[in-house]
Formats: sequence, C-alpha cells, structure tokens
Amino acid sequence: MPVADKIKDSLAHSSMIRKMFEAGAQMRAEKGAENVFDFSLGNPNLEPPPAFKRALLKLLADPAPGRHAYMPNAGIPSTRADIAAYLRRQFGYGFTAEHIIMTVAAGGALNVILKTLTNPGSELIVPMPYFVEYDAYIENHGGKVRRVATERDFTLNLDAIAEACNENTIGILINTPNNPTGVVYSPRDLEKLGRLLEELSAGQGRALYLICDEPYRQLVYDGREAGNVFACYPNTVVATSFSKNLSLPGERIGYIALHPQAADSELLLAGMILCNRILGYVNAPALMQRAVAMLLEEKADIAQYEKKRDLMCQVLDEAGFSYVKPGGAFYVFPRCPIDDDVAFAAAAIQENILLVPGSGFMGPKHFRLAFCCADETITRSLPAFKRLRARYR
Ligand SMILES: Cc1ncc(COP(=O)(O)O)c(C=O)c1O
Repeated sequence: MPVADKIKDSLAHSSMIRKMFEAGAQMRAEKGAENVFDFSLGNPNLEPPPAFKRALLKLLADPAPGRHAYMPNAGIPSTRADIAAYLRRQFGYGFTAEHIIMTVAAGGALNVILKTLTNPGSELIVPMPYFVEYDAYIENHGGKVRRVATERDFTLNLDAIAEACNENTIGILINTPNNPTGVVYSPRDLEKLGRLLEELSAGQGRALYLICDEPYRQLVYDGREAGNVFACYPNTVVATSFSKNLSLPGERIGYIALHPQAADSELLLAGMILCNRILGYVNAPALMQRAVAMLLEEKADIAQYEKKRDLMCQVLDEAGFSYVKPGGAFYVFPRCPIDDDVAFAAAAIQENILLVPGSGFMGPKHFRLAFCCADETITRSLPAFKRLRARYR
C-alpha cells in the first residue's frame, strides 16, 4: 500500500468537522439549503471589508516589476515593519520587523514554531478541549501532546499545568479566544499563567515557551478585551492570521510575533525563518502580504458576531441546553444531554442540524456549534433543537 500507516490511520479518524461539512453539502442538495442548519465549520459568513478589494485593485495597478517574485523567507520587510509598528501601538515593547515572520496563516505559523522548537519526544502542554488540528501539528514534528484538564468553565487549571511539566516539556500551547469553547482568558488568568511559567522554567533550568494561538483576538464581546499575552511572560510567541477578523481564511495569510525579550530570540528567529522555508511554504503569499499591510487598522464587525452569539444562546436556552456563554470567537460548546456525543451528533443530523461532537476536540460529552452563519440559520433552527433536546427527556 503506497500510503504511510500513520496517514492511513489519520484517514480512518479523519476530522469530524470536515465530515460534517461534507454531509452538509449533500444534505443541502437533497433537502434545500433553507432546511439544513449547518453549524459545523468556522468559515466566517461575513465578506471581507470593502477596503480589502480596494487594496487589491491598487496593488494590481502597480506597474513595479518583481511584485510576484521570491522574497526573504521571513516576508516583505515593509510589511513586517508595519506589523511591528502596529504591535508597538497595541502593546508597547520594542517590536521591530525582526520579530515578525509572515506565514501561511495561523496553521502555517504554528507548524513553523513547532518544527523550530521540537526534538523527538518533546512535549507540549495543551489545555483541553482544543483545536482539532493541534495533535497533527505537534506530531508532524515528532512532538507529543501533553493534554491537561481545564476548569468547569474551561478556564486554565494551573495545578494541572504544573503537574504536567517535566524534563521533556518545551512549553504550553494556549488559544484565546478559544475554539471550541469561546472562552477568553482574562488578563488575571494570563498573569497567573506567566508567573507559573517563570517558576516552572526556573525549576527546569531553561526557558519554557508560551505559544499563543490567537486568530480570534479581535472577536471579543460585551466590551471585553482579549488579554495581552506579551505582558504576562517574556518567552512568548504568538501565531495569528487574518482568516477570522478579515474573513480571509482562503487567502492563507498570517504571522508569527516573537516577544522582543524572549530567551534566545536571535536563534529562535533564525530557526523559524529556516523552518518557514524548509516546510515548503518558502514565504507567505506575496500579494496578501502587501494587502494586509494596508488593512492593519481594519476592524472585524464585532456587532454582527455578537448578535449571532446572542441568537445562538437564545436558541440553546429555549431548547434547554446548558453551556458556558462564549465571550469571544464564534463557537459555543454546550453539554450533550447524553454521554455519547457521537451518537448525539448522529441524532442531530436526523433533525437536519450539523454540529461537531466534542470528542473531536478532546472534550467528550459536549458538542460544538460554529455560529458564524446567517442569522436566519440560527433563529430558524429553534424547533429542530427543541425536537433534538426532547429526544432525551
Ligand atoms: C484555534 C485555531 N487555530 C488555528 C486555526 C487555523 O487558522 P488559519 O486558517 O488562519 O490557518 C484555526 C482555524 O479555524 C483555529 O480555530
């Protein structure tokens, strides 16, 4: 058989999200789009801001030669400098172009960081539940996922993190605002995490790294702010993208930002730039690097997502599901009325609802709803959710 055993195994357990997405396309064709309630994929349903098309038109009209050529592997120097200036405005610190590496979105950024830091058998602590691709991303580079429990409200459990740390630990991977829970870690929680990482690093006699995956940073509700992770710990590296705030997931553009005071920063930056190249990305898409530099002050339409969050919570309340109200991102992670979340997802399909079982995120007995869809899909789903809930009374 030509396909590697590991990949055959992965195919057999292939992403439940993608399976649901594919089931959704078939159901829409059979039953009509208006009769299918698809909450499976985090594909923003808002269009990119008008400034995106204006930026592209301007760039396409530029006659300068070499606009589509290879470039330094870290990205276009002026874009990196613009992002560093943006981060200085947001967070202070001495960010310069050197601390920024343009990447193939957040997924590419994470793979670059992980390849750079991971030795065979290195362990990365990851609080559960977590984004479905983390296992693959960590294992891609010979690392091991060290899963740790979170609190009942999905906030960080510092005791569990401290207990999981050992001589193979390279650091911790967090994601805030969170997929799949919608939880936003508070500045206080991040501060406490920073203090713990200082202690654990001292115990190990080397720097542990905090990798913060934050493509949903702008998507926070109720007047909240996403905490400043750079303020909590110097050995911090952020992976982010423009996929969610500017609705550009198909364009694959994002960046890595390394804290200017991180330990071994020169070596780490050189390693990450090399990994960007040898992973085959070479550099992030050229046209998109130029476009996002013109859009750094564009804001996501938070009001629209907040409205969808409220509509989704109303549906869940009226149907009788329990859940932690999301403070950010566009997901909610309610509790299943039965323990078997896969059987629950199958029952949901009978009601034309597409959702993802929590086990796919290492959060069994729960299910994930992505509410980045049309408002009507949410409001019209109420009777179907009521019927689904009634099956288990
Ligand atoms: C938590 C998290 N990290 C990373 C990604 C990947 O983002 P990108 O499309 O920017 O690679 C996603 C995508 O849904 C995500 O939810």
